[in-house]
Amino acid sequence: MPPGNSNSRSSARTENKMNNQILVAYATKYGATAEIAEKIGQVLAQAGLPADVLPVDRVNDPAPYKAIVLGSAVYTGRWLKNAAGFLEANETVLAEKPVWLFSSGPLGKGDQEDTAQGWRFPKNLQPVADRIAPRDLAVFHGEVDMSKLGFIHKLMLKKVTIPVGDFRDWEAITSWAEGISAALKKEGLGQEKPAE
Ligand SMILES: Cc1cc2nc3c(=O)[nH]c(=O)nc-3n(C[C@H](O)[C@H](O)[C@H](O)COP(=O)(O)O)c2cc1C
Repeated sequence: MPPGNSNSRSSARTENKMNNQILVAYATKYGATAEIAEKIGQVLAQAGLPADVLPVDRVNDPAPYKAIVLGSAVYTGRWLKNAAGFLEANETVLAEKPVWLFSSGPLGKGDQEDTAQGWRFPKNLQPVADRIAPRDLAVFHGEVDMSKLGFIHKLMLKKVTIPVGDFRDWEAITSWAEGISAALKKEGLGQEKPAE
């Protein structure tokens, strides 16, 4: 679990109800990316910008949100199908809003650029991302827990030598999310007066 994320879980229970102006949507296979999304939601909430943190499958319509953060785990260089599908299906809506994209993938310690070996975003989705023009495309270190992996994934990992463990860099994730909150606050989000 990411450090200190106990109160961000509540937003994950909101499911389809849109309670907040910001959406943090994610796709995960084994939970590592979900926890990154929760951490981002927690940092935004601490900055006075509460977000709906939801798996992409539970987002009915991203249109009412004022800003969107979307992330996916990476498997063999690609985003998970539901995240890729969400990006493609909502391209027009996303292109009109401030959007931040993140991938959770590279394993191992050290500089993210080195461990990612120059990988920044799935090649097949790059044209869609170019049209959406996100504010940033982040790549975060991921986590592999052998005890959670399905048979096929275990088999795939046996054929390659990659580090196994939790390499998520909570400081990097926090600092990225703080950058998002700073940008959104500058643009006036979170400063609306409550209705009387
Ligand atoms: C079979 C397999 C293939 C993977 N392929 C990649 C890859 O191509 N690039 C990458 O950066 N990470 C890759 N990873 C690492 C995962 O993306 C990373 O562990 C991620 O944090 C898992 O997120 P999740 O628990 O949300 O599914 C792979 C992991 C497994 C098990």
